[in-house]
Amino acid sequence: MTTLLMTPGPTRVPESVLAAGAMPMVHHRSDEFSGLLVSTLDRLRPLFGATGDVLPVHATGRGALEAAITNLFSPGDEVVACCNGRFGEMWAEIATRFGLVVHRACSDWSRSIDPRDVEATLDAHPMARAVMLPHSDTSTGVLNDVAGVAAAARRSGALLLVDAVSSLGGVPFRFDDWGVDVAVTASQKCLMSSPGLSFVALSHRAWEAQAVARLPRSYFDFAAIRKALARARPETPGTTPVHIVAQVHAALTCIGEEGVANVFARHQQMALMTREAVSALGLSLQCPALGQLSPTLTAIRAPEHIGPAGIRDQMKARGILVARGLGRFESTCFRIGHMGDIRPADVRRTLDALAEILRSGTR
Ligand SMILES: Cc1ncc(COP(=O)(O)O)c(C=O)c1O
Repeated sequence: MTTLLMTPGPTRVPESVLAAGAMPMVHHRSDEFSGLLVSTLDRLRPLFGATGDVLPVHATGRGALEAAITNLFSPGDEVVACCNGRFGEMWAEIATRFGLVVHRACSDWSRSIDPRDVEATLDAHPMARAVMLPHSDTSTGVLNDVAGVAAAARRSGALLLVDAVSSLGGVPFRFDDWGVDVAVTASQKCLMSSPGLSFVALSHRAWEAQAVARLPRSYFDFAAIRKALARARPETPGTTPVHIVAQVHAALTCIGEEGVANVFARHQQMALMTREAVSALGLSLQCPALGQLSPTLTAIRAPEHIGPAGIRDQMKARGILVARGLGRFESTCFRIGHMGDIRPADVRRTLDALAEILRSGTR
């Protein structure tokens, strides 16, 4: 029996995307592959809501988040980090390791980011050059207010960098309209493909920062990637992970066929189904006070007498994989991913299994 992956990444890869990943090897410097690469980036731009550059970065999301730091900043630069979850905190730690001075606007995982807190942190640190924000923080299921934080960043002339790894493709994103400067996503979540490839959208302001930034970079050099893409036969530096590009291209075909608006509506519907079941089953969300919740995953508090490990083990016995809680929620919570190729019927099966486990009442 194939396990149903109800995890917030990697997510189930649809048949047509699997097939694209099984194509005979194509050379990464061929016209054939170059066309596929260009078409993939063209199809991604509307998902970002960006008209400018979208670059492929040969790494999982974390590598691209690191690349955003090394490409835009110099040692000692100050930044404001929104840390209301594991992934906001992770990005702040990456920045710290590269010698940036990080001011945290929020470090309470049970709260949404309030743009006024970002504004106050920027006022307290007027030299801060940028704000770093997770859109959907996969550890808590929060959906942070990118537009509000973008406005706060803009008022003080700071750049806005957004981690859209668990949102892009499942949730509307408006890079240009919101005034985002860098947005990062990865192949293995809403883009329904194998892990190993990320994409980064960049604004003009981001390129200006890139031109003067002094942190060392080599493999992850955005200017080098842009230069390779601008060649007569567009390509990437080094050997491109051609099969993941082919998979993402096929996944974007699926998204196009379903219709982007329908894809977003399906994610909303699945999130709603999950939240309604949480309350109908007498459970509670991991962080009930969050202002806005992500349509792509739900973090749930496990009943004490069963515990999160009990829930996950019994789900696994029924062929369903749900994720553990992260950080201080590991011993009390679990997470259900409902993103990418996951359908309402998959969510229904998962929620029915959860109801059955609760009825049995055993660990
Ligand atoms: C919001 C977010 N950011 C970053 C990452 C890290 O990405 P990756 O595991 O692709 O390196 C994840 C992974 O789950 C994530 O959910």
